[in-house]
Amino acid sequence: MEQEYQEKQEGRLGTFLKPLADREFQYLSSLVYQYCGINLHEGKRELVRARLCKRLRELNLDSFVDYCRYLQEKNPPEEITLLLDTLSTNLTSFFREKQHFDFLQRELPNLLRQKKTKGSSRLRLWSTACSSGEEPYSMALVVAEAIVSTGVHCDVKILATDISSSMLRRAEAGCYSQERVKDISPALKFKYFQYEDGQYTVNPELKKIIAFRKLNVIGPWPFQGPFDVIFCRNMMIYFDKETQLELVGRLHQCLTEDGYLFVGHSESLIGISHAFRHIQPTVYQRI
Ligand SMILES: C[S@@+](CC[C@H](N)C(=O)[O-])C[C@H]1O[C@@H](n2cnc3c(N)ncnc32)[C@H](O)[C@@H]1O
Repeated sequence: MEQEYQEKQEGRLGTFLKPLADREFQYLSSLVYQYCGINLHEGKRELVRARLCKRLRELNLDSFVDYCRYLQEKNPPEEITLLLDTLSTNLTSFFREKQHFDFLQRELPNLLRQKKTKGSSRLRLWSTACSSGEEPYSMALVVAEAIVSTGVHCDVKILATDISSSMLRRAEAGCYSQERVKDISPALKFKYFQYEDGQYTVNPELKKIIAFRKLNVIGPWPFQGPFDVIFCRNMMIYFDKETQLELVGRLHQCLTEDGYLFVGHSESLIGISHAFRHIQPTVYQRI
């Protein structure tokens, strides 16, 4: 909902901007689709126009025709990264879709005890589209607290990936304004953040369990897992059914037996053939 609102507002601003004709829109949308699977259908044209006008100004280009020519003729490798950074929606927040974190908080103690019984100490989680980091840090907070409450120590690693280099830089910095940390309890803020000059910075101890990496989820993955928990939230909505289907199959392959998959509030595995047990809305378990 928040995402749709943000996009509509930007689309309205597009009224004052340069025209984006069919040919250029089709060229840009197929480039983006090929590179990262994002499906820029006709309904996104105003959004593309509004967001890219700023990039045109930065490059001193007069029109979308010039921009497409620049991409075709010069093919600067960094431009595709900037194009995606400009077009992708990075909206996120700490403990977004709280029911997922409540679920983790309930399940993790059992999972940790089961692992201990089996003589395993390895716990792996993956945030597949981590944006500016709020999602993997929220996961880390829940895991750290579960370890404290159960007293079961384990080797925890959270892999946090995104296609956007600028978002990953922000995520790695782990530095957030007062407004952005408003959904974190005072006790957790006190325990896991340092406060200075109006900014909250994640403690090095918590950061240490997260590895931030640039990754295009529709490209090759240089790891196999297995992961106990995968968050793949609010990215699949931008993909078409075919891309979603393939991605869900690959995620299934790299989950542990009984591993959990969390998807975003407007995503579901309905219509995608898969081998998951439905646990609660947007929470699935590998069969
Ligand atoms: C709306 S944010 C979701 C952030 C977080 N998962 C959440 O739910 O709050 C979507 C993120 O998906 C990333 N993204 C889009 N296409 C991607 C791709 N092909 N591979 C990896 N990340 C991608 C974007 O860069 C953006 O940061």
